[in-house]
Amino acid sequence: MHIDELERYWLIAVAMTLGVFAAALFASVVVFGVSLPSPVGRIDPREISAEGSQFAETGLRQIDENRYEVVMTAQMWSFTPAEVQVPVGSEVTFIMTSRDITHGFLLEGHDINLMLLPGQVAVATTTFKRPGTFAFICHEYCGPGHHNMFGYIIVEPVPSADTQTGGDN
Ligand code: CUA
Repeated sequence: MHIDELERYWLIAVAMTLGVFAAALFASVVVFGVSLPSPVGRIDPREISAEGSQFAETGLRQIDENRYEVVMTAQMWSFTPAEVQVPVGSEVTFIMTSRDITHGFLLEGHDINLMLLPGQVAVATTTFKRPGTFAFICHEYCGPGHHNMFGYIIVEPVPSADTQTGGDN
């Protein structure tokens, strides 16, 4: 089969570009551990507040010395809780769902970007390595109050007193 010389160059260029993309994708998964957040569970949105539901009590809980869990719900047009404080160095797992319609959760400066769908539980973990105030926002358009849907993670500069007494250092 005859392939025109110019066409051959273009085919080679395209193949090389796709090769670079494939290598980047491969590196992101294997080297950098990037993964898509996947739904880890389901919950009937009408049962979210019911006794025994994992969302019956929202807020921060300490798992061990510097590990925390935040149980958070999204609803038109707020997050509950809208403000969370953790000491610097904390590894925090967010366990989230939506009470009504599709919302989003994007956390400033950290690798968390979730879609919150009613009926699905989303989980993501990140470590807060530097102190500061980091905003999280809903980034799925959800109606007239969408732009008011945000909150903050406040990372305190020093580990809190109870984490200091808990450790040996
Ligand atoms: Cu919730 Cu936009």
